[in-house]
Amino acid sequence: MANVLTVENLSISFGSNDVLKSISFEVESNEILGVIGPNGAGKTVMLNILTGILKPSKGSIRFQGEDITHKTITERCHMGFGRTFQVPRSFEGMTVFENVIVGAVYGGGMPESKGRRKAFEILEMIGLVDKAEWFAGKLSLIDRKRLEIGRALASDPKLLLFDEVAGGLTETEVEKMLAIVRMIKNQGISIVWIEHVLQTMLEGTDKILCLAEGKVVLCGLPEAVMNSKEVSECYLGADEEC
Ligand SMILES: Nc1ncnc2c1ncn2[C@@H]1O[C@H](COP(=O)(O)OP(=O)(O)OP(=O)(O)O)[C@@H](O)[C@H]1O
Ligand SMILES: [Mg+2]
Repeated sequence: MANVLTVENLSISFGSNDVLKSISFEVESNEILGVIGPNGAGKTVMLNILTGILKPSKGSIRFQGEDITHKTITERCHMGFGRTFQVPRSFEGMTVFENVIVGAVYGGGMPESKGRRKAFEILEMIGLVDKAEWFAGKLSLIDRKRLEIGRALASDPKLLLFDEVAGGLTETEVEKMLAIVRMIKNQGISIVWIEHVLQTMLEGTDKILCLAEGKVVLCGLPEAVMNSKEVSECYLGADEEC
């Protein structure tokens, strides 16, 4: 299988804080890569580098074989990157439907008529069509997370980056979220998915990368990573510090 994303020796420091220390990994076509690790491991910073919000001090990122390390956020978006934010960023004073259209027209560069059709299809897929006319600010947590995904899908991405889309959800809601993620994968989209709920990662991913203190602890098949001594130790270590 071809690589969609190839990350090599990525590093970033904020002052004297070396947050990522030469991390490397790959995401294959149509693969879901789960990213786990204790608080402060560098997961969100890594996502922000992948989308172009932050610039790495070292290392490279290739997307479908092309070096995108120095491309802007907008260029990456037009090439096929989509993302959700750890704290949902929908426009609360706009309706659910309008929020997704904005993603299609401004994020995906689609004409409005196409954007409207696309938005409708997406709302059907993520289970928000009945709430299309609701203001985003009135949605429950799971529906806000659904809408985050909907906005990210609107620009027709090839690669989606999820930051805790299942965080704070009940078990039943997590199951619904897993079903949505599976549908997205079935459309041929690759996903990098940060999550703290380890059971969700075990059920919902093809491969897991564990980060701790800015380094890759392990990357491999979900069960092998979850059952490994190294990964248990990095979580235990984090608990002891708390
Ligand atoms: N813009 C920034 N400027 C300076 N330091 C930052 C910045 N963003 C993140 N950091 C630091 O980088 C480290 C990693 O943060 P990050 O948000 O990536 O952790 P995380 O793995 O996503 O944690 P969590 O699981 O709590 O979301 C932290 O020490 C944080 O304080
Ligand atoms: Mg984070």
